[in-house]
Amino acid sequence: MRTVIPKVGPRFYEYRCMWFLPLYHAPMTELWSLFQNNDGNIIHKWTHYFPAYEEHFSRFKNRPAVLVEIGVFKGGSLELWKKFLGPRVQVVGIDIEDKSEYEQDQIAIRQGDQSDPVFLQSVVDEFGPPDIIIDDGSHQMEHVTASFEFLYPRMSPTGVYFVEDMHTAYWPEYGGGLRKADTFIEKSKHLIDELNADHARGALAPTDFTRSTLSIHFFDSCVIFEKGRHLPKHDLMIGKE
Ligand SMILES: C[S@@+](CC[C@H](N)C(=O)[O-])C[C@H]1O[C@@H](n2cnc3c(N)ncnc32)[C@H](O)[C@@H]1O
Repeated sequence: MRTVIPKVGPRFYEYRCMWFLPLYHAPMTELWSLFQNNDGNIIHKWTHYFPAYEEHFSRFKNRPAVLVEIGVFKGGSLELWKKFLGPRVQVVGIDIEDKSEYEQDQIAIRQGDQSDPVFLQSVVDEFGPPDIIIDDGSHQMEHVTASFEFLYPRMSPTGVYFVEDMHTAYWPEYGGGLRKADTFIEKSKHLIDELNADHARGALAPTDFTRSTLSIHFFDSCVIFEKGRHLPKHDLMIGKE
């Protein structure tokens, strides 16, 4: 029998590959699709957070990362992170209530108060320094600050700390209020100075936060801290006169 090989130019394969591409390269909206198509446990998220999740969490996909989410609710968001980040992620949910019914492969849940340093230390001891921390717990200013102050220095040196629902920083029932001294938004504003302390000409001493933080991102209701190693800073002038 004669085998007939169709005569096709290289463009055929190019177009064929392009046709298949979406199957292999998930689009940047993948997390959004996972959320929209969720038919598992309930997830409760503001929709405008999704582009920021994509931007800050994508680099951990398929990596052996530890993600800690404060606030489990119905367990759905823990499943979302597992689906999004892939088979190597260890997801850890923290909640003041017993949420152990939502545990599954790759998803551990520990019960405790997000403002209790002994409890938080036990989570770090058990799972190692987190790469991603999402604070979606009580949203009480005192609690948000306590978790951040304890966990931020103890997370991975290239980690990302995502504080959500900071509209509560403006609401008295959460300990908030516009420009009230001890809200997490005010604390974050001060951390901008600490980020830039190397340039403050002695007015502000650099801290561990200065040395370990690459960036702070603010957007509606959220503050995101990216950690990373600083190389010696220098400026360059390049080009023709
Ligand atoms: C907004 S829900 C979490 C929603 C969930 N992350 C999601 O996306 O579907 C808040 C959760 O925080 C928990 N919580 C409240 N106060 C807490 C505290 N002090 N420490 C830990 N968890 C707390 C509540 O029990 C509740 O399950």
